[in-house]
Amino acid sequence: FGRPWIFIRGVPSMEFLPPEGPLEVAFAGRSNVGKSSLINALVGQKGLARTSNTPGRTQELNYFVPDGYSGQAGDLPPMALVDMPGYGYAQAPKEHVDAWTKLVFDYLRGRATLKRVYVLIDSRHGIKKNDDEVLSLLDKAAVSYQIVLTKTDKIKAPGVVKLIAETQEKIKKRPAAFPVVLSTSSEKGDGLDQLRGAISEAIGR
Ligand code: GTP
Ligand code: MG
Repeated sequence: FGRPWIFIRGVPSMEFLPPEGPLEVAFAGRSNVGKSSLINALVGQKGLARTSNTPGRTQELNYFVPDGYSGQAGDLPPMALVDMPGYGYAQAPKEHVDAWTKLVFDYLRGRATLKRVYVLIDSRHGIKKNDDEVLSLLDKAAVSYQIVLTKTDKIKAPGVVKLIAETQEKIKKRPAAFPVVLSTSSEKGDGLDQLRGAISEAIGR
């Protein structure tokens, strides 16, 4: 995470995916849960991924890589971070929901270099019905995933501890879930080192 990171591509459908190269991890979650903010916090660059109060800000799979690699064989970045469009916001038109589902399903099933999906859950809300559906989709596609609670600055510390325990209990029987639930605040910087460590481990470096 030491170098500056750059945005390389927004992917509206499968044919626009970058060629498989660097190992990647993706960030999924309901609209407004804080996916783009967490990517910015992880790399320490506020304006890298676009964030907003308006749900549905991120509409494509957005690829970020460390800068300074040519992309030629033998000179590939060590990893990519993928910001996914959010799901489950009430005003989303049906075509959006269908497009999201198709893109995400195809991507999750077909991407050999995808090593882990971080599923973000707002610590004020916990796992909701549409989160559960996404977890089932990931289990079905056998894609390794880990739950990350976000915005922990919005609730009191004992509440975070309790929610971690409850969430770990809820996902215990899910086959593709990593058993440990992480917690983060992009605002305060809490939990970022643990998440960086988890990502490094997921991509094996
Ligand atoms: P979509 O792209 O619409 O799916 O949203 P997203 O999940 O990328 O959320 P985004 O990062 O744009 O953040 C949504 C809102 O939550 C913004 O107003 C952020 O400032 C706020 N936010 C994100 N992370 C935190 C956090 O750790 N603490 C607090 N208090 N607010 C946060
Ligand atoms: Mg976003």
